[in-house]
Amino acid sequence: MSAPVANSVAYRRMTEADIEAVVAIENIVHAHPWTAGNFKDSLAAGYECWIAWHGSQVAGYGVLMVAAGEGHLLNLSVAAQWQRKGLGSDFTRFFIKLGRDYDAARIYLEVRPSNAAARALYAGNGFAEVGTRRDYYPAADGREDALIMELNLK
Ligand SMILES: CC(C)(COP(=O)(O)OP(=O)(O)OC[C@H]1O[C@@H](n2cnc3c(N)ncnc32)[C@H](O)[C@@H]1OP(=O)(O)O)[C@@H](O)C(=O)NCCC(=O)NCCS
Repeated sequence: MSAPVANSVAYRRMTEADIEAVVAIENIVHAHPWTAGNFKDSLAAGYECWIAWHGSQVAGYGVLMVAAGEGHLLNLSVAAQWQRKGLGSDFTRFFIKLGRDYDAARIYLEVRPSNAAARALYAGNGFAEVGTRRDYYPAADGREDALIMELNLK
C-alpha cells in the first residue's frame, strides 16, 4: 500500500450539491452504478450519506442505513485515483464507528462474489461472509448472487 490518505481527507455529510460529482465517480468505478435518483432517495430517507473530501474534490463516498438496531452499508466507493491508498479501509472504520454511535448490534452489507477488492477490504476490517442472496445484482449475462458480509458490534 502507498502512503495512507486518511490524514489528508475530511469526512462530511453528503448534500444534493455533491451528487453530480458522486455520480461521475460512481459511473467509473461500478459496472452497474447507482443513479443520481438513488443518492437523492438515500438523502431524503435520512440515511447516513458521507463524503471523503480531499481539497475541493470528492475522493470517496458511502451510504449507511441504520434501522431496527442494524446497520446496512449500502454503498462505499473510492475514486479511481484514490484507490489502494488506505481510504477504503479508513472509510469502512468510519462507518463502523458510526454504527457503534447508533448502538447498532451489527453492520451487514452485500458484495459481488467477483469483487475481490471489496471482499478483501471488508474481511480485513473484521467482516465475515455469512450467507448469499440469490440473483441479487444485475450482471452482464443476467443476475449475480450477492455475498452477505457481517460485522458484529456487540
Ligand atoms: C473496494 C474499494 C472501496 C477499496 O477502496 P481502496 O481505497 O482502494 O481500499 P484500501 O486502499 O483501503 O485497501 C484496503 C484493502 O482492500 C483490499 N484491496 C483493495 N483494492 C484491492 C484490489 N484492487 N485488489 C485486491 N485487494 C484489494 C486489500 O486487502 C487492501 O489492503 P492492502 O492495500 O493492505 O493490501 C475500491 O476498490 C472501490 O471503490 N471499488 C469500486 C466500488 C466498490 O466495489 N465498492 C464496494 C462494493 S459497494
